[in-house]
Amino acid sequence: MEIRFVKRDVLKEKPSDESKLGFGKYMTDYMFVMDWTKDEGWHDARIEPNAPIPLDPACVTLHYAQETFEGLKAYRTAEGKIQLFRPEMNAKRMINSNARLCMPEFPVDMFVEAVKAIVKCEEDWVPHAKDTSLYIRPFMFATEAALGVHMASAYKFIIICCPVGAYYPTGLDPVKIMVEDELVRAVKGGTGFTKCGGNYAGSILGQVKAEKMGYTQVLWLDGEERKYVEEVGTMNIMFKIAGEIYTAPIEGTVLPGVTRDSMIHLLRDWGYKVNETKLSVDDLMKAGHDGTLEEVFGTGTAAVISPVGELRYKDDVVTINDMKTGELTQKLYDTLTGIQWGRLEDKYGWTVPVE
Ligand code: COI
Repeated sequence: MEIRFVKRDVLKEKPSDESKLGFGKYMTDYMFVMDWTKDEGWHDARIEPNAPIPLDPACVTLHYAQETFEGLKAYRTAEGKIQLFRPEMNAKRMINSNARLCMPEFPVDMFVEAVKAIVKCEEDWVPHAKDTSLYIRPFMFATEAALGVHMASAYKFIIICCPVGAYYPTGLDPVKIMVEDELVRAVKGGTGFTKCGGNYAGSILGQVKAEKMGYTQVLWLDGEERKYVEEVGTMNIMFKIAGEIYTAPIEGTVLPGVTRDSMIHLLRDWGYKVNETKLSVDDLMKAGHDGTLEEVFGTGTAAVISPVGELRYKDDVVTINDMKTGELTQKLYDTLTGIQWGRLEDKYGWTVPVE
């Protein structure tokens, strides 16, 4: 793919304190952009200054939310090399998201090439401090100006990047989660398995409710019976009960997380039985009370792993592992981040160098 380069006049000042990066606050100098039209398909790949994008007020995305996105990271190793983690999985997931939203396919090889190109261009922005990385946000949206609800005739694919630290200010300290028993996130046949902006917009009210009650995130139940646990906030979730791992199956309502898949690989390699099966909230709370609920953790690219120390369902509250990060949670975090930052051998071939 030929990528043209549009230079910016003045480069931005990089954040001086890498311990205060937070998440998604500082955008880098450049972005990757490519356009799609019915007649030309994908064309005009370019790296240009990260700047506001002019949009017609009738742009269909502003009205009907035809938008999908991805999230992955670039890591700086101790030797100063930069690497990605399973970028082809993000590319494939975006293809599946787009198919559901009637948006054009962005081929896997082009996706990976575009990610490598923008990261290479912004390599000075990949932070050095422990647990920091460059978060990469590819996204696609319809640009056609029209108010009819239909597949659009023009789309843009953009990748922006930002240096990040921990997603939650609490880092690896356990968070408190509230089970949402009224609002739902996804139903079968809907868009729950896609990474589309609309899913996240619909989740904010649940999060606001949880925050008002002193909780960090929401644990979503299935949309049909409000009985089975599915996802937590912006992450997949796993439970260790009596030595076995439980997580919701990928059957249309749950996001097929890259971190989820990687954790399942590690866990099975270590001899754990991982049950990708429906788990009812009643059984979960029961396990919390009878002492068999040993560890709970969310998994996602942004947060990596987020231990859960307390669960509330209606008026019932259980504390998990005395509100401390569990041994397995810590081991998963150390192993996955060890591979991502090149501290441990990557025997799975998950890392991809940016050269
Ligand atoms: C990620 O984990 O990369 C996500 O996309 C979650 C995000 C909404 C912050």
